[in-house]
Amino acid sequence: MIGLKRGLVKGARISALGVHVPERVLTNDDIAQFLDTSDEWITTRTGIRERRIARVDEAASDLAVAAAERCLAASDIEACDLDLVIVTTISPDHLMPATASIVADRLGARRAGAFDVQAGCTGFVYGLAIATAFVAASIYEHVLVLGAEVLSKMVDWEDRGTCVLFGDGAGAVLVQPTDNGSIFSFDLGNDGSGAQYLSVPAGGSRLPATYATVRDHDHAMHMVGSEVFKFATRTVTESCEKVLDDAGLTVEDVDLFVPHQANIRIIESAARRLGFTDGQVFSNLDRYGNTSCASIPLCLHEASENGRLKKGDMLLMAGFGAGLTWGSCLTKWEL
Ligand code: UT7
Repeated sequence: MIGLKRGLVKGARISALGVHVPERVLTNDDIAQFLDTSDEWITTRTGIRERRIARVDEAASDLAVAAAERCLAASDIEACDLDLVIVTTISPDHLMPATASIVADRLGARRAGAFDVQAGCTGFVYGLAIATAFVAASIYEHVLVLGAEVLSKMVDWEDRGTCVLFGDGAGAVLVQPTDNGSIFSFDLGNDGSGAQYLSVPAGGSRLPATYATVRDHDHAMHMVGSEVFKFATRTVTESCEKVLDDAGLTVEDVDLFVPHQANIRIIESAARRLGFTDGQVFSNLDRYGNTSCASIPLCLHEASENGRLKKGDMLLMAGFGAGLTWGSCLTKWEL
């Protein structure tokens, strides 16, 4: 990596992809049956029409294993060949052990190390950066990165400001070595002074579980939406400009821009500021809502299936979320 700019990594590629979403669809009209909201408000303010909801007995690891199995089936390796399993999530099965430990065991990834990455909804970009660094440094050859969320169990279904936004799903990518010169350009950022704008206040060492925390819904997601909105539009733009600049490219060189799917107004604002045309921007938010760490891989899969993302395309991904964190990644699509 000597000689490359900070954030530029050579010698790794995404070599396989798999996703899984729960079967149950919850529409805006369904939510309006039990909450003071409407399809009109949710669609206009967010772009979301429906989301997938996991079964009562389904946790993040269940969705992750299904996505990982599809990813491995599309690859040239078996689970036992994996060197590392990284699960990125804000809705882990448990505070401990790591969801990645459970996923690796169920896959049969017996010789793999496993850990979770918690970087809010930017987790997938952070996980991809870690995997890429391990592979490019020739430490490991086969690293599985997952984004897996069951956010339907992390929201307060009486809080219309948050529960309408989120959905469940999982995506997995395999990162392997390449000698064709493929470059990843990353920008990872954090501003912890905004931690209070998006959090699950209770259940950790700051505010352990008590009857009062359960009564006050402090184990569910709390969000100051307007602050996160302002932060997101600014950081996504700046971060994307940075990775493009580091790679010596411009917006015209990008074939597809896949931002984290949180709100269509954030996506459109960032795309407009960056100068993307509609044809360069991908979104499936209308059907899945905000699936946090799973949103980018879910988009990659759909874009690849329907021909919007083709081998050789220049792909720009951008995430943002709790922390507050942000991250962008520019790479050539090689599937
Ligand atoms: O992955 C990253 C995580 N999160 C995000 O990226 C979220 C970023 N923020 C947002 O997407 C937006 O701020 C929201 C969609 C959360 C909210 O949109 P907004 O345009 O900022 O609305 P607001 O919070 O300013 O609320 C406007 C009004 C309020 O009523 P009053 O006070 O004006 O009477 C809310 O109570 O809309 C009301 N409201 C709703 N009404 C119907 C809030 N949620 C709803 C709802 N249905 N679901």
